[in-house]
Amino acid sequence: MLEGKNVNLRVAEKEDSSLLAEWFSSLQVFGEYNPIWQISKSESEKIHESPNEPKMFIVEKKDGSKIGYILHFNVLHTVAKMLEIGYGLVPTERGKGYCTEAAQIMLDYLFLSKETVCVQATTHVKNIASQRVLQKVGFKKEGIMRKRFFIQGEWQNIILFSILREEWKEPKILTRTT
Ligand SMILES: CC(C)(COP(=O)(O)OP(=O)(O)OC[C@H]1O[C@@H](n2cnc3c(N)ncnc32)[C@H](O)[C@@H]1OP(=O)(O)O)[C@@H](O)C(=O)NCCC(=O)NCCS
Repeated sequence: MLEGKNVNLRVAEKEDSSLLAEWFSSLQVFGEYNPIWQISKSESEKIHESPNEPKMFIVEKKDGSKIGYILHFNVLHTVAKMLEIGYGLVPTERGKGYCTEAAQIMLDYLFLSKETVCVQATTHVKNIASQRVLQKVGFKKEGIMRKRFFIQGEWQNIILFSILREEWKEPKILTRTT
């Protein structure tokens, strides 16, 4: 468990598959700015089985309630070692700073535990909340990637953000794991 001040990040277990499948299949949770994804519980379970699939964490409040997910995965690159993160919260828990905290905990964890040069994230050009989260934890905008997401029947542009290890400098939140 990665402990923060208001939220913890807990590695997702097989038992979380139903909830994750529900979230990923929901336009309200996964968001209007992401490709629509209909995923079954059994498909969601496979996410935990392959070492190459995203590593999924459940974002929990201190009372143990599950409010969202945050994940990391390897970005294929011939030279550099890079990781990418993604996240989403249930609508009722947004706008309270929880995702910013979760993203900071994840960044601290990745730079402390993985030999990565850089962590990146992508977001739809209109997803201002996600862009704010990334900027608040120190990501910088690299540029627009043209026509990368197929959303609402159209190819749409996304923004690539990244943070280098030297920009992160030191852990801001993650002080202990249990
Ligand atoms: C993106 C998401 C995870 C953000 O979660 P959150 O808990 O609301 O984020 P936080 O509360 O930590 O911060 C949100 C920031 O965006 C700002 N914000 C939110 N909506 C905004 C809008 N429409 N316009 C401008 N700013 C906005 C908030 O004010 C806050 O910034 P501030 O602290 O400077 O005021 C959440 O909106 C979500 O789950 N969206 C659906 C899934 C998704 O899009 N995931 C990202 C895929 S790239």
